Amino acid sequence: MVYRNVYEAVLGTINFLINMILIDGKKEAADLRGELRGEVLKLKSEHNKIPGLTVILIGDLTPSQIYVRNKEKAANEVGLKSEVIKYPDSVEEKTILDKIKELNIDDSVSGILVQLPLPKHINKQHVIETISPDKDVDGLHPMNVGNLSSGYQGSIPCTPLGCYFLIKKVEPNLRGKKAVMVGRSNLNGKAMAQLLLQEDCTVTITHSKTKDLQGECLEADVIVAAVGIPELIKGDWVKKDTIVIDVGINKTENGIVGDVKFDEVSKVAKALTPVPGGVGPMTIACLLKNTIECFKRAQKK
Ligand code: GUN
Repeated sequence: MVYRNVYEAVLGTINFLINMILIDGKKEAADLRGELRGEVLKLKSEHNKIPGLTVILIGDLTPSQIYVRNKEKAANEVGLKSEVIKYPDSVEEKTILDKIKELNIDDSVSGILVQLPLPKHINKQHVIETISPDKDVDGLHPMNVGNLSSGYQGSIPCTPLGCYFLIKKVEPNLRGKKAVMVGRSNLNGKAMAQLLLQEDCTVTITHSKTKDLQGECLEADVIVAAVGIPELIKGDWVKKDTIVIDVGINKTENGIVGDVKFDEVSKVAKALTPVPGGVGPMTIACLLKNTIECFKRAQKK
């Protein structure tokens, strides 16, 4: 095994010692960004223009500011045109909707993302539905939700898409596998379920009212945890040979932890994503991918 840096060498050694695949989201994301960089150069030479991503950030929530900064940095790294438009918390909804309408008809903008969560006085549905489905890099517009569930072309939410690539890296053939989503949000659980259904998995979506969550998880070949409950998924919730994807990022007094109890689950699972360094980097790389896909579809129109 040849490692490219100390981080990869440490992960490789951990994998060997604990006999489990610690899924390296940082490496997978770096590889994907490398591919995308090549694609942007090719598109530039073919069309004499480059894909552009515009992010709207409202308010000053620290996590949102960090996410947006990381998105901008990654977009610049792959050679996309990147712009962040910031508004104070007090901005009126109409100002945001008008700005989105302006971006919808701006040819230099391929993708639009409005960072969530929004201040309470701004209606999320109005915002999402105002973004042109052709530029909706989050895949949250009802048109794209429908596209995904119908198996048609369109943007797929970035986090589930990133999870999907990580799962496929460990297990390319998912046919007949039992996949359990823990969490039913539009951004994660529901979209993830659609992607795994398209891979011929038998999919269960669980949530806070599910009667026997542990029992459901114990039947799973693939678990995707996206509920925002620190370390909910314990070692005795997971059978041997299960692939466990941890979408959670929870701030606790012991630091940032996922929705999966890492030290327990890593002793039984076949593969597990760490937090941080698992799903997070892939989400951003998939946002760049979605922007490029929107650009390519726009050139064909
Ligand atoms: N806030 C946290 N994750 C996301 C995401 O994937 N998209 C948007 N728009 N906001 C987020």
